[in-house]
Parts: sequence; structure tokens; C-alpha cells
Amino acid sequence: MKTAALTVVGLLGALCLCLRTEANTAWDLLRQSAVNWTGNLPCGGWDCDCEFRKPKGCCCVARPLFELEEATFMRMVGLWEGLTDLNEQIDEVTGGRNVAFAAFLSSTPGCFGPFTRNVSIPYQNITLNQGYGYNAALGAFTAPRAGLYSFSYTVYSNVGPAGERLYLKVQLMKDGQVIASSWEDNREDSEDSATQMVLLQLKQGNQVYVELVSGRFLCTDTQGYNSFSGFLVYPLTDVPV
Ligand SMILES: *[C@@H]1O[C@H](CO)[C@@H](O)[C@H](O)[C@H]1NC(C)=O
Ligand SMILES: *[C@@H]1O[C@H](CO)[C@@H](O)[C@H](O)[C@H]1NC(C)=O
Ligand SMILES: *[C@@H]1O[C@H](CO)[C@@H](O)[C@H](O)[C@H]1NC(C)=O
Repeated sequence: MKTAALTVVGLLGALCLCLRTEANTAWDLLRQSAVNWTGNLPCGGWDCDCEFRKPKGCCCVARPLFELEEATFMRMVGLWEGLTDLNEQIDEVTGGRNVAFAAFLSSTPGCFGPFTRNVSIPYQNITLNQGYGYNAALGAFTAPRAGLYSFSYTVYSNVGPAGERLYLKVQLMKDGQVIASSWEDNREDSEDSATQMVLLQLKQGNQVYVELVSGRFLCTDTQGYNSFSGFLVYPLTDVPV
């Protein structure tokens, strides 16, 4: 038993290199009690020396090292949380940025119109619809998010032989409000086309569409001559009314 205790003390000395130099009976007693103790020690047993005397030895760095490790870990957790936050913010800014559509009036024999009211033109041949803002059934684009948008349309009509009346008027609308329009009314020229391009600040849910004004008509049997397209230039958080 004594040998075992001495071995432990010897090991302590060899491991720790923090053997005291002065004799101290009270200290010896405390150390012996600690070494003899068979239950659990809060300081892990052999580093009780550090607890009592606070010396600066190699074995006594265990606690500061543990504290450093703990602090580093907490700092890493903090950094990780910060990065997660940043990622979410980036997603918020970049997510839903891909909004673009292009659609053509499908070639139909005869003319579209005339109607007794203003009718939105159903550009049914959708060639692009990123972000799914364009709805062919409505012929309308609904802004999936607030932002600055660019829209363009090209209107073309061919009424056939010279002398027929080329009579059309279309208008680009934003929620019932006329933004831009193109028109023709003549008999000298049986076919013509016009293009408009506009930039619009939209709130989420605003609708943009192209209307054929009542009484007018569009005649086109050629695919690709009548088009409507748009895209998000950049998102906005604050859109004036
Ligand atoms: C520690 O154990 C040894 C061996 O059993 C014994 O001689 C000694 O008195 C003990 N010391 C203390 C402080 O309990
Ligand atoms: C849709 O438009 C594309 C490109 O202009 C064309 O190649 C295709 O034939 C059109 N489809 C229909 C059904 O009109
Ligand atoms: C249709 O559009 C024309 C031209 O902008 C306008 O004068 C007329 O009031 C519109 N009709 C309806 C019912 O909105």
C-alpha cells in the first residue's frame, strides 16, 4: 500500500515536474489524504497540487487548456451561427432572382379580334418562364417579388391585300393602368409592326399584360411576329406607389 502510494507520488513528481522544494507537513498531510482518497475527486486527483498551490507547471495547464478549449469551442459555435445567419440573408437576397419570361402569339388563321371590350392578348406559346410569373391563360405576368422589371412587346398585323384597313391598337397595362401603347389605322399599308420596351417598378402581385383595344384586330398567321417578354432587372425592397 505504501509502495503504491509512493509510486503514485513518484509518478506525480515525474509527470508534473512541479515538485515543491520546501518541506511542509500540512501540505504533505493534505497530499497524502488526496493520494489515499479512493473516491472521485473534482479536480481529477493528480492535479490537486495545482488546485492548492496554483503553481505554473506543465501539469497545471490542464485547467487553463480546458478553459481555452471551451472558449474556442464557444467562439466556433458563435461563428457557425453567424455564418448560418449570413447564408440565410444571402438566400433572401439572391433567392427568387431568376424571373424571366417570353411568349408568342400562336399562329392562327384569321384574326384575333375585333372584340367589344379590351381583351388581354393570350400569348400562348411560352418559350421561357423562369420563376413562373407568366400565366398564358390570363395572358398576364404577375410579379413574384418587388423589383425593377423590364418588359417589351412587339405587335404585328397583316390584313392581306392593299386597300384593307390595318386597324389595331394594343396597350401594355399595369393593373388596369395604361403604360405604353402602339397603334395603326390606315389603308396604304396592309402590314406593319411596332415594338415598345418599358422599365417598371413593381410590387409583389402587380400584374402586367398587353391588351387589344376594343374594335381593333390583329391578323397574323406567322409564328414569332407577336411577342411579349419581361424579366426582373433587380429586386427592390421599397417600391413607391
Ligand atoms: C495514507 O495511506 C497510508 C498507507 O495506508 C497510511 O500509512 C497513511 O497514514 C495514510 N495517510 C493519510 C493522511 O490518510
Ligand atoms: C413556339 O415558338 C417556337 C419559337 O418561335 C416555335 O419554334 C414553335 O413552333 C412554336 N410552337 C407553337 C405551338 O406555335
Ligand atoms: C380600353 O382602352 C381604351 C384605350 O386606352 C380606353 O379608352 C377604354 O376606356 C378602355 N376600355 C375599358 C372598358 O377599360
